[in-house]
Amino acid sequence: MKRVVILISGGGSNMVALCESMVRDHPARPVLVLANSEDAGGLRKAADMGIDTAVVDHRPFAGDRVAFEEKLIETIDPYTPDIICHAGFMRILTEHYVTHYAGRMLNIHPSLLPKYTGLNTHARALEAGDTEAGCTVHEVTALLDDGPILGQGTVPILPDDTPDTLASRVLKMEHQLYPAVLRRFAEGDKTQVTLRDPTLPISAHRA
Ligand code: GAR
Repeated sequence: MKRVVILISGGGSNMVALCESMVRDHPARPVLVLANSEDAGGLRKAADMGIDTAVVDHRPFAGDRVAFEEKLIETIDPYTPDIICHAGFMRILTEHYVTHYAGRMLNIHPSLLPKYTGLNTHARALEAGDTEAGCTVHEVTALLDDGPILGQGTVPILPDDTPDTLASRVLKMEHQLYPAVLRRFAEGDKTQVTLRDPTLPISAHRA
């Protein structure tokens, strides 16, 4: 059984989708949910599912990313993870952390990478006049939102979309894509997963 640690910063809806998927014949199980703030709403959800939780607050380490990462590693390593899922973990990681867990890390990003790394992805997709948006799960490397792509989920952009309506459509797709990629990855399969929104016309164009 593969051991999965999940890192979050907020509500943790992707974390919940991942945990709910790791049942029955799934080759992995969640062993720890870690947040960089005790205010992360997902911590309670993880505890309610009976999963160990931990907080490593980044604030006392202001300006010293490596010291923060040392503390992360010290907290994570006793759980001997095979896979670490970054699920809305909003900290930039250095080579120190990334080297330590090389080959074991996944991340989800709310855009069709390589488009729109960083923040405000949905507003940027709307501003560019794109007709499709989506999400990407990729292996983590030291570069921001980079690393080999393991899966993408595409949704249409509709004429009256706002960043919020688009974000919620993409988030639903994230909840499909991340569990699908995790399962393949846990089975040792790095073939890309490709999902397209089944409920909305993919040919929809913005006015
Ligand atoms: C998700 O949309 C995820 O793709 C995004 O944060 C959100 C977390 O939501 N991640 C990034 O922007 C990383 N660059 P959640 O806490 O409900 O899973």
